[in-house]
Amino acid sequence: MDEIQIRELKREDAEKLIEYTKRIGAETDNLSFGPEGFPLTIDDEAKNLENMHDDPKSIMLGAFKADKIIANGSISSLPRRMSHRAELGLSVLKSEWNKGIGSIMLEKLIEFSKSSGIEIINLEVRNDNQSAIHLYEKFGFKHIGTSPAFFKIEDKYYDFEIMYLDLR
Ligand SMILES: CC(C)(COP(=O)(O)OP(=O)(O)OC[C@H]1O[C@@H](n2cnc3c(N)ncnc32)[C@H](O)[C@@H]1OP(=O)(O)O)[C@@H](O)C(=O)NCCC(=O)NCCS
Repeated sequence: MDEIQIRELKREDAEKLIEYTKRIGAETDNLSFGPEGFPLTIDDEAKNLENMHDDPKSIMLGAFKADKIIANGSISSLPRRMSHRAELGLSVLKSEWNKGIGSIMLEKLIEFSKSSGIEIINLEVRNDNQSAIHLYEKFGFKHIGTSPAFFKIEDKYYDFEIMYLDLR
């Protein structure tokens, strides 16, 4: 079995990240984009990765297997009076689900948040996404409430759970 390496993504990883977002976007309707991936050029993605690297309260992690990204996790800082909070994002390719990769990524994102002084991590998750909700609850995230019709995919609405982890 190929070994999995988890590390911060840098601007040189932009093309691989774009390929990954197209693959994961085609595999799940739990994310804010579909098979078209995240609408960024390689240059824009490189700049975005550079900005995240330069921001002490943001990080973009990738899990690599055989030199391809198989999972992605992020902590994105918020500005001004929200700068004690950050937004979390997480995804793993379907072929790798239920092998503990999501848990390892989440653990690393929480560790990063603690070490960079983030006090509250926020996230939104589709309310029928049982494995993700299980994972977030396992790491101590609490439910704030339900946001109705958070996504609209081909005329169908999907509610989301709003969750947070208090690190204070
Ligand atoms: C959600 C996601 C990140 C989980 O990644 P993963 O690598 O499979 O996570 P893990 O293997 O570490 O953990 C999965 C957990 O869910 C549990 N699980 C799996 N299916 C489940 C279900 N139907 N109901 C409840 N729990 C379930 C597993 O038992 C495991 O729990 P455990 O660690 O207590 O045994 C992954 O499924 C994914 O990327 N999905 C598509 C994108 C997405 O939904 N991202 C989250 C957006 S908020």
